[in-house]
Amino acid sequence: MSQLFGSKCKEGRLRMNAKQMAGYKAAEYVKDGMLVGIGTGSTAHFLIERLGQRVNEEGLNIKCVSTSIESTEFAESLNIPLLDTNDAPELDICIDGVDEVDPAFNGIKGGGGALFREKVVAMSAKYNIWICDDSKLVEKIGAFGLPVEVAPFGYKHAVRRLEEAGFVPKLRMKGEEIYTTNNHNYILDTNYDNTKFGTDYQAMERFLKGTLGILETGFFLSTTDLIISAGSDGITEIKNPNK
Ligand code: 5RP
Repeated sequence: MSQLFGSKCKEGRLRMNAKQMAGYKAAEYVKDGMLVGIGTGSTAHFLIERLGQRVNEEGLNIKCVSTSIESTEFAESLNIPLLDTNDAPELDICIDGVDEVDPAFNGIKGGGGALFREKVVAMSAKYNIWICDDSKLVEKIGAFGLPVEVAPFGYKHAVRRLEEAGFVPKLRMKGEEIYTTNNHNYILDTNYDNTKFGTDYQAMERFLKGTLGILETGFFLSTTDLIISAGSDGITEIKNPNK
């Protein structure tokens, strides 16, 4: 399967079809009676769409925990039963998108800014699936920077500490405004090419999580059990060899 990493599916419509294929395929893993974490983003959108069809047409009996306001609103519009994460401490399965993943299953998430909620929900699930188009399978993660969620109060102190350690954090903007997450925090899209950590992502994660003001990072290091990726050659399922 490793030859898939680094190969890109084509742009545009094909990529959207691939996201739909992956999202719909993943919905097959959801069985009657399950508690299900539902992710955020354009691929998770198709998962939620298919779950909505199964709930309404097949009478699939599930309860879902959402990772963002966007996904909550979409699921609600499809009459998918929802629970608060605090009322569902252990989920059967969580299915979410991913921004980049390497052959060792090191992933980066948070392109859509939902990383904190996504990590909480993923960590509460017994089984995790990532859904994506083939462009997300890369040899090396980090091309777009690592999203890092920071508390607004004093975030510039965190920025300074990151810069001292060789990181290049860039405050995410939405037009002229500072982008804020569903948790009312900021995101630093952070380049880590010139730090002492190299590709030791675990060490980097420890450093980042130990920095005052940083609440969560977009690193999801071998947290998923299965990747369902789709592209011009169809759907590929890749099991995490470390799990
Ligand atoms: C949101 C995420 C998404 O899962 C990630 O950005 C993938 O999104 P898409 O399926 O739209 O490519 O982490 O915070």
